[in-house]
This record gives sequence, structure tokens and C-alpha cells, in this order.
Amino acid sequence: MANTAKQVMWSASYSMGVKIIDDQHKGLLDFVNDLYSHSTGNEKEERLYFKEVIQQAVEYIKTHFATEEKFMIATKYPGYAAHKKTHDSFTLTVIDSVKEYETGKRLVLEKFARFLKDWVLSHIAIEDKQYSDYFWKIATRKADGKLSITTADLEIPYIDRTK
Ligand SMILES: [Fe+2]
Ligand SMILES: [Fe+2]
Repeated sequence: MANTAKQVMWSASYSMGVKIIDDQHKGLLDFVNDLYSHSTGNEKEERLYFKEVIQQAVEYIKTHFATEEKFMIATKYPGYAAHKKTHDSFTLTVIDSVKEYETGKRLVLEKFARFLKDWVLSHIAIEDKQYSDYFWKIATRKADGKLSITTADLEIPYIDRTK
């Protein structure tokens, strides 16, 4: 039986108010859901599926992190270095896990899905929300010529998370 009960639904509370980033977060959650829907408990099947999708998923994760980092650099976000560190260490953890599975460690797709889901959701809620708050603070400030981001860069409409 495919494990769909633990799938995660997108919610407005996850929004950064930046369309390209929200779209990528949705893509990551879609991948988590895809992992759950392929978690049948049959390791042979799960391995086949994992092998098919994992490289592309790793590339997607890297692209997402690079997009956020570009925004953070462009806005001179003070938390950039620390945020990038969490991205880098997560990427390494994922790559290490993939290597372990490839060299024979028992693969339980549901476990891998839960690990991804927990990390992505807590990263969105804590670290990503911090840069989003910063973007919005500076984006609503009158242009002073020093910061290279404006409300136009943040792609309105903004979803108000405080409601
Ligand atoms: Fe993110
Ligand atoms: Fe991030």
C-alpha cells in the first residue's frame, strides 16, 4: 500500500511572498509527497524508484538553495553566511545518505521522506522566514539606492502571513 496519509499540503503560512521561491518550495513538497506515494514497503520497488528520481531531486534542491542565496546576496541579508551553512550541510547530508543507500544500506523510503519533510518544513518556518521578513522590511522601505531589491523583485501579490 502506498503511504499517502503522511503527505504534506501546501499552506499559505509557508509562503515567503516571493513567487519563484514559493514555487520551488512547492516543488520540494511535491517530491516529498511523491516519495510517500512510492513508499510501498517493498525495498526492491522502492530502490528502483529512488534510483530513478534521486539525482534530479538533488539537483532541484541545489537549484533552490542557489536561488535563495542569490536573493540574500542581492539584498545584503545579514544572515546569509549562517543560512548558506545550513544549506551546505543539508546538501552534504542528503548526498551522504544517497551514497549509503547506493552502497547497500537498507532503504526505507518512508524514513527518507520523513527526514526530508521535517527538514524542509522546519527550514521554511525558521531560517527561510527570517530572510523573507528581512526582504519585506527592506522592500517596503523607500528606495534609498543602496539596496538592489524592490517590491517588484519580490513579485507581488504578497500573501500576508500574519492573518
Ligand atoms: Fe527554502
Ligand atoms: Fe533556505
